[in-house]
Amino acid sequence: MAFLFKVPSSAAAAAFSTSSPLYSFQSSLAAVNGQGSWTWLYTTGAILFGLLVLEQTVYRAKKRHLPGDSWTIPIIGKFADSMKPTMESYKKQWDSGVLSAVSVFNIFIVVASSNDYARKILNSPTIFLTGKDHADYRRGLNGLFTRKAIGMYISIQDAVTRKHFEQWRKDFGSSPQPLMFPARYLNIDTSLRVFCGNHIPDEATREISDRYWDITVALQLVNFPIPFPGTKLYKAIQARKAAMHWLTLAAHNSKIEMANGGEPTCLLDQWVKVLNDPTYKGKRDFSDHEMALVVLSFLLASQDAMNSGLVYGFQHLVDHPEILAKVREEQEIVRKGNYETPLTIDLMDEMRYLNAVVKESLRVKPPVLMVPYKATKAFPISDDYTVSANSMIISSFWNSLHDAAVYPEPYEFIPERWLDPASPANANPKNYMVFGAGPHRCIGVEYGTMNIMLVLACAATAFDWEHEITPETSEAAILPTLFPKDLCRMKFTPRKQS
Ligand code: HEM
Repeated sequence: MAFLFKVPSSAAAAAFSTSSPLYSFQSSLAAVNGQGSWTWLYTTGAILFGLLVLEQTVYRAKKRHLPGDSWTIPIIGKFADSMKPTMESYKKQWDSGVLSAVSVFNIFIVVASSNDYARKILNSPTIFLTGKDHADYRRGLNGLFTRKAIGMYISIQDAVTRKHFEQWRKDFGSSPQPLMFPARYLNIDTSLRVFCGNHIPDEATREISDRYWDITVALQLVNFPIPFPGTKLYKAIQARKAAMHWLTLAAHNSKIEMANGGEPTCLLDQWVKVLNDPTYKGKRDFSDHEMALVVLSFLLASQDAMNSGLVYGFQHLVDHPEILAKVREEQEIVRKGNYETPLTIDLMDEMRYLNAVVKESLRVKPPVLMVPYKATKAFPISDDYTVSANSMIISSFWNSLHDAAVYPEPYEFIPERWLDPASPANANPKNYMVFGAGPHRCIGVEYGTMNIMLVLACAATAFDWEHEITPETSEAAILPTLFPKDLCRMKFTPRKQS
């Protein structure tokens, strides 16, 4: 790159080569003459200029014909945009082409927005996944989400939900309040009790819930990479440590209880039981720490998505009173007006309309907009474009889920589209990417859907709902899952039975 360097004088040019025996003598002389600082300045400037040119050249070579900025902002790229993402900026990116390019901190990112490309990425095991290890991991966890296990979780979900509704009665009874944070605590409390049962104290669920917010705010596609004290990443690491402390204790206590002949009452117990089953084939020896890591991964994978799904479930229903009325009608038929009796998996199975409501709500406002992967080697995604090794490649779901050919009136909330087996929605299941696709498809689909259904079912029968509409109600915030910008301001009063 020497030809790019601009040097101040022929004397300095001669001295520039460090291999010259005269170099050190001349530079000392120049320093004495006051020229050293100029040489240093010009050299540094030339190197920086060279690096900037190199950065742009690499970006353009990787981007080739893909839509995206022709030049990238030096060093940070689109970092500022990624700190405050908006639906408008995301939609612009998705609509700019089925494949498009962007760069953040010199990480080259390819965004795939069509159903075909999004699925192709998620189904490319040789490139992105850890093959057999991952398959073994999934197989080992299957026993945790059997129908019997989910039946057990439903009774826990039911009890925790009713406990929170006692509090909601007080907090939401007199005026509309933002639903997002109470719904979040309900979700985390439920998940922790489902995962850990009574192996951790109440204070643990409160602490994890409070500190989990630090993890949520750090969950951006791209973050400031160094965890200096005070940064989002630093706080998230501290929150993770606190959660790991309690989850490790839970794993420890569960093992003791199962060894003493206890019956499983939570996911950890169920897991210990599966591992102790003589017919079980697979890794048996999980330390407390390893079990805690898996439970933490469930929390990370589920909490923000479940909360988004629940809050939009409330908002869609309250804004469509005729649909809420049908949900209540179904509850009346299925539960025969007996709303104090705890819900069971058999009763949940009968709530077909509510199931369609939740499925549609998650489609209209998918909690997870996209999932990022790293291309560990060059990946020829289309006939004329290969994603280069070490690039980030993002599979985005929005366009699949709002394809008017599959979902007529794609932005409307129409649960009925799921009730007709011949509807285009049911005929094109591949478009429904709310839970991903391929080998990494969500492990908690049934459990997560059941939980959202259960809370809505109980709230529909326990309360009359009111929604305070604000100018931000219909705008979506990305936190990093989707939420109404005003956090859904609701009032709940004890339901007057008709
Ligand atoms: C509405 C709720 C939920 C939504 C929208 C959702 C969405 C997703 C999506 C899109 C993926 C695919 C990620 C990828 O391809 O990398 C995923 C994976 C996953 N989800 Fe969920 N999820 C939900 C609830 C849950 C729950 C309740 C659990 C835990 C019990 C859970 C555990 C997981 C796990 C462990 C994975 C990774 C699976 C793997 O890598 O093989 N999710 N989820």
